Amino acid sequence: MCGIVGYAGAENAVPVLLECLRRLEYRGYDSAGMAVVDQGKTLVRRSVGKLAALETMLGREPLAGATGIGHTRWATHGAPSLKNAHPQQVNDVALVHNGIVENFLELRHELGDEGCVFGSDTDTEVIAQLVAQAMARGATLREGVRAALRRMRGSYALAVLCAREPNQIIAAANGLPLVLGLGCGEVLLGSDVTALLGRTEDAIFLEDGEVAELTSGGARIWNAAGRLVERGPRHVAWSVEQAARGGYKHFMLKEIHEQPRVLGDALGAYLVGDRVALGPEPVDAALARRVNRVVIAACGTSWHAALSGRIAIESLARLPCEAAWAHELRYADSVVDGATLALCVSQSGETADTLAAARELRHRGTPLWAVCNVVSSSLTRAADRTLCMHAGPEISVASTKTYLASMAVLHLVALELGHARGVVAPETLRAAVRALRDIPRALEAALQGEEAIARVAARYADSEHFLFLGRGRNVGTALEGALKLKELAYTHAEGYPAGEMKHGPIALIDDKMPVVVVAPRDHLREKLRSNLIEARARGGRIIGVCELEDRDTVELCDDVLPLPSVDPLISPFAAVVPLQLFAYYVADARGLDVDRPRNLAKSVTVE
Ligand code: F6R
Repeated sequence: MCGIVGYAGAENAVPVLLECLRRLEYRGYDSAGMAVVDQGKTLVRRSVGKLAALETMLGREPLAGATGIGHTRWATHGAPSLKNAHPQQVNDVALVHNGIVENFLELRHELGDEGCVFGSDTDTEVIAQLVAQAMARGATLREGVRAALRRMRGSYALAVLCAREPNQIIAAANGLPLVLGLGCGEVLLGSDVTALLGRTEDAIFLEDGEVAELTSGGARIWNAAGRLVERGPRHVAWSVEQAARGGYKHFMLKEIHEQPRVLGDALGAYLVGDRVALGPEPVDAALARRVNRVVIAACGTSWHAALSGRIAIESLARLPCEAAWAHELRYADSVVDGATLALCVSQSGETADTLAAARELRHRGTPLWAVCNVVSSSLTRAADRTLCMHAGPEISVASTKTYLASMAVLHLVALELGHARGVVAPETLRAAVRALRDIPRALEAALQGEEAIARVAARYADSEHFLFLGRGRNVGTALEGALKLKELAYTHAEGYPAGEMKHGPIALIDDKMPVVVVAPRDHLREKLRSNLIEARARGGRIIGVCELEDRDTVELCDDVLPLPSVDPLISPFAAVVPLQLFAYYVADARGLDVDRPRNLAKSVTVE
């Protein structure tokens, strides 16, 4: 939800900022802009649309300067337009911002009464006006930012520069991420570490309420109380190669293909022989005894991962488990207390709804574990314990590899809890670990079906409606398949438990409504086949996600997305791969921008 970058160093900031923005474009791409200080002037360039439009503009109207800030926008206040693009400039103050100023209307009216004239509809301009006003009254840039922050409510990450103090950037964060990258004779700023890759691996994550000053000589940080903070950088192990497309047409395709390795890494981090070791210490026995319920909070794809994690926790740890939408949970009067273990699942660790749910759960006394891909994100800082997905940077807006990685972590949690509670027989534990260890092979095998899947996708590329069905562990898979198609191909797709079909959705089925059925060989196979026959009888064209050797099922399908033969425990891992590829190829056949679907952003940092 908006990407912020900054550079203070000896080089021309413009190409550096563009490179950093390219890595953050997944956070928003409604408009982009940058500001530099050059020869005592604040110069701004902005354009509507993707970053490429800004690059073209900079080709026509070049900029140069050793201190600069940049922004890629996902609109909240004010439509995507030139006047609403960032940086927002007031006099010689230029400001980029991520977040929402909750009291923006109030402030806008107050400033209007004082004679300020607004050039945009954004809440961001209000902050720039406040900084400029304070500076006009004699404040330094840092004091001006502080004065503005004191009047604002809401969460924010922002960066400001001003030609009157030409060699510095002031940055501030509260509830939204901002990372400083310490290079040699230069300091960078980014909404996340991927922005900094290639220039530095030493990062300082700003804490809530902190204000930082960046110059070519280094960074200084003050806490909310205005005291200087001493905090050394953390080493970030992600590489540029990990964040680059590596020859694939889209990041999404690359990330789908990375899945066998990612799952190998994620499982390798937590499996020791045939034992699960989620951390250096086994789960505290007192905690395992005390917990009588698990709640998993998440949104979107992470919630779909929670659906399959829920089943694993109930069956392996024998604990009642709920998979809750974070945005519902935070306002629900749920029965949670110190005996409930809360698991919050989030790729980014910055999803506003999930963070709010995490805080609410903590408030009610639950132990809180974060299942997260971005270490040092806000969620990991709020949690008692973080279980990293080990998926590396996920750039494509649509989640793929982190869906699988988070499911893997949830299955491991199920096993460790089951073991700590003494409810999993050693043989069951060993068999489950064996099955999990087979996931990378199963994913490789699933990827072998890519060409066949691309052909099927081409046949259905013009369909406007789809129904996705699954049962048991694969209800989440069906929902995830439908979501991928919606977000990438802008196609109406409904995901349902197959048993629910006859209670309503069956009315939709005709020959224009392809029905995608996730049909692994598990104990629900016969039941699922009956649903498939019912859908066929209504004229539905059936696309089966099933084993080619499963002749009885294949016979009932018009088309097949091949599924390798796997242990039922890991069928949700293998079965989602054909659905990811299907959505990818439908979207690609329609000529859509797969990595940057319209209206979406990678991290949804607003409610
Ligand atoms: C879908 C997708 C979203 C996210 C959701 C939660 O492909 O990416 O549905 O899963 O916005 O994001 P995180 O996991 O970062 O909390």
